[in-house]
Amino acid sequence: MWESDADLLARVDKDKMPRHVAIIMDGNGRWANCRGLLRSAGHTAGVKTLKKILKTAVNLKLEALTVYAFSTENWKRPPSEVDFLMHLFSEYLEREKLEMHANNVRIKFLGRTEDFAPSLQKLIRDSVELMKNNTGVKFNVAADYGGQDEIIRAAQKLACRVKRGELSPEDISAKLFEEELDTAGQPPVDLMIRTSGDLRVSNFLLWQAAYAEFWFTDTPWPEFTPEEFIDALIDFGKRSRRFGALNN
Ligand code: FPP
Repeated sequence: MWESDADLLARVDKDKMPRHVAIIMDGNGRWANCRGLLRSAGHTAGVKTLKKILKTAVNLKLEALTVYAFSTENWKRPPSEVDFLMHLFSEYLEREKLEMHANNVRIKFLGRTEDFAPSLQKLIRDSVELMKNNTGVKFNVAADYGGQDEIIRAAQKLACRVKRGELSPEDISAKLFEEELDTAGQPPVDLMIRTSGDLRVSNFLLWQAAYAEFWFTDTPWPEFTPEEFIDALIDFGKRSRRFGALNN
């Protein structure tokens, strides 16, 4: 097991924990620029933060953690930055997969990933296969992911089923739709965290976050800490969630 900071974990009321937390890990580039470093140094620092937050999620026995690693729009970045991120994903998986496995993490990738280099696609497949029977934190890495793209892909799969005569259009329900999303079988997002000051959803988990609580911080991702993560969870525990109904 990863060692844990018991005092820190004890601050969270286990009965008021979210089941599924999603994180937009923003601000790596700005963090690096402010320090006169290359943007790539910001991404490298961001990986260290991700490792700490996953460890905290494991120790808290969080059900699902989803992180936004690369959006369908991120291909528009300079090729050198895209290449660096791809290299970082490979290095991270290669280095961390056995430790994640030892900690009962079940990794999954949301998004397309078929445009990634064959070697990275193989690492992704191997990591998913290695951890597929694990029962701990469902760790979703959104890579070449866009919420609209995911919804379109789900709609296309349902349309094909209608065309084949397996379904009629009236059969399509929210439940059936969810079964075609990349997150099929996972709980909806309860809490969405975004670091580094911007207040937007950036095409992340548009369906799954329909009733999510949002938590924004100015802290850039490389400086985000397990303490601040716990602050977000505690704040979530104080929210009144009505899901469109009234409180009694
Ligand atoms: C946003 O910061 C961050 C990204 C587009 C990449 C996120 C990647 C990591 C945290 C590293 C590794 C992830 C894995 C799964 C190994 P930005 O570059 O948009 O920052 P800026 O808004 O300050 O420019």
